[in-house]
Amino acid sequence: MTRITVTVDGVTYEEEVEPRLLLVHLLRDRLGKTGTPIGCDTSNCGACTVMLDGKSVKSCSVLAVQADETDVVTVEGLSSGGEWHPMQRAFHEEHALQCGYCTPGMIMAAIDLLKDDPDPSEEAIREGLEGNLCRCTGYCNIVRAVRRAAQSMSGQEVVSGR
Ligand code: FES
Ligand code: FES
Repeated sequence: MTRITVTVDGVTYEEEVEPRLLLVHLLRDRLGKTGTPIGCDTSNCGACTVMLDGKSVKSCSVLAVQADETDVVTVEGLSSGGEWHPMQRAFHEEHALQCGYCTPGMIMAAIDLLKDDPDPSEEAIREGLEGNLCRCTGYCNIVRAVRRAAQSMSGQEVVSGR
């Protein structure tokens, strides 16, 4: 077992973990962060995407020990003062989800996308989110939501995480 210290959604945890434990299992099974789903067992779907020190990662492809001394933000840590993050609000307003299973990861990846490209074209959004799969929406409303969030966030801090 290895002792790690990790901050998740603003709270610092000290945990004893097995070297093989995946970050997504630490988040869900130990810390109760079930807002981060598991959608596959092949690192393909992106449903498990979180921010690790400000960069989006698929938390099923990161070991918990690799998150030692890092700052993790999940979809549960995005809202602030009872207010949704602009990306969450845009997904809601553009009806960018159906079953919602992909949505937490899609939102985290989209926030990271805007960090690198605050005014992305439709093509850039589709390319930037290609690691996140959605089986329901056909992606059109997701692209619209990211465009809408980009507009509402222009001139603001794009990724504070919270
Ligand atoms: S659960 Fe992580 S990529 Fe599918
Ligand atoms: S809304 Fe169902 S998988 Fe995307």
